Amino acid sequence: MDRLLSACAGEEDRLQEGSLRPLCLEDYIGQEAVKEHISIFVDAARQRREVLDHVLLSGPPGLGKTTLATIIANEMGRPLRKTSGPAIERPGDLAAILTNLEPGEVLFIDEIHRLSRAVEEILYPAMEDFALDIVIGKGPSARTLRLELPPFTLVGATTRPGLLTSPLRDRFGIVSRLDYYQVEDLARIVRRAAGILDITIDAGGAWEIARRSRGTPRIANRLLRRVRDYATVRASGSITAEVAAAALDLFDIDQEGLDALDRTILEVIAVKFGGGPVGLETLAAAVSEESDTLLDVCEPFLLKIGFLQRTPRGRVVTPAGVRHLGKGIPGCAGPLFAADEGDAG
Ligand SMILES: Nc1ncnc2c1ncn2[C@@H]1O[C@H](COP(=O)(O)OP(=O)(O)OP(=O)(O)O)[C@@H](O)[C@H]1O
Ligand SMILES: [Mg+2]
Repeated sequence: MDRLLSACAGEEDRLQEGSLRPLCLEDYIGQEAVKEHISIFVDAARQRREVLDHVLLSGPPGLGKTTLATIIANEMGRPLRKTSGPAIERPGDLAAILTNLEPGEVLFIDEIHRLSRAVEEILYPAMEDFALDIVIGKGPSARTLRLELPPFTLVGATTRPGLLTSPLRDRFGIVSRLDYYQVEDLARIVRRAAGILDITIDAGGAWEIARRSRGTPRIANRLLRRVRDYATVRASGSITAEVAAAALDLFDIDQEGLDALDRTILEVIAVKFGGGPVGLETLAAAVSEESDTLLDVCEPFLLKIGFLQRTPRGRVVTPAGVRHLGKGIPGCAGPLFAADEGDAG
């Protein structure tokens, strides 16, 4: 089974996301500051009849970057063209995309941190001057030809803003960071999705799902579908707080929204490595997972809720993390498990 709590999109998510994706800013729930900024910039650009400045959206998977890119194009009343960093292999691929843009089009590059250096260099003049520099010939006789491009808006999305080179980052006029959602916002997202998917759910049911969705709309929508399955088979079909709690317990998603892998990570650090610090690769090997999965999916949330800390020497489980695991883990002794001072490193 796919991890229910993986923030990465599975096959079923991709099928459903089309129908669940809000299409305008008004329907985009939460992230109030980001929304307000974008709406001001969009309105200003529209009033001046200019293209919107380039936008960089960053944040963990499933928080709504692709959704926001679609909304930006809709709000600007412009078409959206989608591509991704790994899909653009050679500079020529990007040049072809750029020269085919319609004036004012919104070009969305997902996983923009994965563009190669050579491709990135094509983007610099394109973003800055709406121009393409083409080198003709080789050696001393080589010349550069400058092609004009139609004005366009680049929207880049990344889960790893730290991997972006600074020349690229500096060329974005608007930089927005999405953060994990509040439970209230996720509950609204769950109720909205339930409305679209024709699922009966009450406020308590939506809250219970929201609470255990690790701050991530994609996970909230996925848990909603799984809880609906449970409600169909084991209850009357409608989702209440009790039904949601029973389903999520059964699926091994705990009160904080952690699943078996998250708990294994905390447990391994606590028990095998005496609380840490432990390096990423060692940890990944110990829990038999890819280090990228730990880095992108598990860690950001464990860090966010304060169960894990990153230190220069590696990962450390915090006293709160240990408390969550419960008392009496075999082999656990020493100050980490006795004290609440918060200094685990
Ligand atoms: N603010 C929001 N309001 C309502 N639904 C949302 C919101 N943000 C995201 N969603 C829902 O969550 C799903 C996942 O969002 P999206 O695909 O935009 O995430 P992402 O940040 O692009 O993820 P990834 O990093 O994996 O590409 C969407 O299909 C949408 O249904
Ligand atoms: Mg996306």
